[in-house]
Amino acid sequence: MNKNTQKLPKLGFLYLDYVLRFFDKSNFKGWPDPIETVVYHWKNDKKRFIDEVKRKKIDILIGNVPATAYETFREIARVLPNVRFVPSLDSQFSNKSKENVTRFAWKYDIPVPKTYIYYDVNKSVQFIESTTYPKIVKRSYGPSNYGGYFVHKVDSKEEAFELFETKKYYPRYIQDFIPMEADVRVMLIGHKPVCAFWRRAPEGEWLTNTSQGGSMDYMNIPKELLDLAVRVSKAANAEYWACDIAVGRDGEYRILECATAFAAFPYIRDWIGQYLMWLFSNGHFELPHIPLFNWEELGKMDSSILRTLRYITFGHYTPSFDGAHFLDGETRMTDEGEMYLHELDSLYPILAVEMKNFEEWPSEKWNFQDHYGKSIKIVESEYNPMYDKKIDGDETQEATQIVATDDEIKTTFIDGDISKKKLIETKDMHKVLTSVHGIGKKKSEAIMQKYETHELVEVIEMAPRKLAEEFNWLKGSLLDGIKNAWENFKNKIK
Ligand SMILES: Nc1ncnc2c1ncn2[C@@H]1O[C@H](COP(=O)(O)OP(=O)(O)O)[C@@H](O)[C@H]1O
Ligand SMILES: [Mg+2]
Repeated sequence: MNKNTQKLPKLGFLYLDYVLRFFDKSNFKGWPDPIETVVYHWKNDKKRFIDEVKRKKIDILIGNVPATAYETFREIARVLPNVRFVPSLDSQFSNKSKENVTRFAWKYDIPVPKTYIYYDVNKSVQFIESTTYPKIVKRSYGPSNYGGYFVHKVDSKEEAFELFETKKYYPRYIQDFIPMEADVRVMLIGHKPVCAFWRRAPEGEWLTNTSQGGSMDYMNIPKELLDLAVRVSKAANAEYWACDIAVGRDGEYRILECATAFAAFPYIRDWIGQYLMWLFSNGHFELPHIPLFNWEELGKMDSSILRTLRYITFGHYTPSFDGAHFLDGETRMTDEGEMYLHELDSLYPILAVEMKNFEEWPSEKWNFQDHYGKSIKIVESEYNPMYDKKIDGDETQEATQIVATDDEIKTTFIDGDISKKKLIETKDMHKVLTSVHGIGKKKSEAIMQKYETHELVEVIEMAPRKLAEEFNWLKGSLLDGIKNAWENFKNKIK
């Protein structure tokens, strides 16, 4: 097909009443067709919204969903299998809650502060009694989670108990306190860092949020930190993405937050628009050239100016023109030695993000928040061949479901049909563990002590390396042994 005459997909903006709009038409300057708008009005608006998307024949729906509408939009996306949501609901998994950020990081082995999530209050009491301090306590989920307002440092178990007494946060989300130099916000488009800045806490304080009086600057962000941000963006398969990375006093990088929803200057939203136009037109529209470290130069301007700049472009590096590239001759020190800026830049291409044809984070399995204490309800769905075939990207894997009755939590497995659920009990896991050569009663009990049954199942399936981190005797073959024993057990009870 001729590149110029090919049919473009029909775009729509996903808006919600009362929610700030990240994009508008001006960010998609040059897109020749009208761009539709679909507004979600909250409260029972699902069906009307779906009908409107269908009626308008939208192929691609662009926009972030706020945390409180996330589960609703997972349902909506499922009944619109032919509509591409950008970012996908899977990419937006981390937007919903801090718990989700943590689970995402555990799955992909992304470094985060050690985190403990309790739905069982009694277990959390045991933990608070026996752990070391200081610790950080956060509200995991809420309508306006920003600015460190729901993040607390507790220096003793008494403080921790008092905090949970007054704040009633649920689940109880507790983290090791990380003494840190600063943290860095990195924004990425197509997995390329396009803006980054340091955020430093005021003297003698620990919160690095600038909304609490900290400072920010754009200079000399280490390549290795950018590399971590790229890895996280790729794991999320996100068209655009932001990460907050803590730089610990111990020199380690750890992710504090990551999301597709973040505040960005208009010129960055223009870049995202241009990138998406490129992506949706098979390269008919040009990709913007956004040199690495452009933020160091743009950051020299006053933020009141940055708020008004639009449609910024940079020239490409052309070898035939000596010095015709960004910051000619400048170099940077990296762990791999000194590198020219244009060399460094070439290591971070803007990449096409493809739509996945399965749900990576189906809510039946991952929405712990709404499922704890309730029986499972599969969300209603029209026939969706994609969903039939795959749940969680693996045809052979069942969905794990957390069900709780009378404060008692159990893990069930569903073979597509809710009536066939099976309960996994502590004694089952004990059997699984002790069936491994080299794991006896003592070791099994040590593991069972650390995790609730459903957590253990989750850790074995999703993040087995966490087990090895927890128990230094649990090395390679024992870990593989546990994974195999668990698979065997699952096959037996099917
Ligand atoms: N585990 C931790 N150790 C030390 N400081 C932390 C830790 N987690 C968060 N902080 C500090 O608290 C700030 C806010 O935490 P964050 O998780 O980003 O929540 P939010 O921005 O949603 O309020 C961070 O920017 C950082 O300065
Ligand atoms: Mg934050």
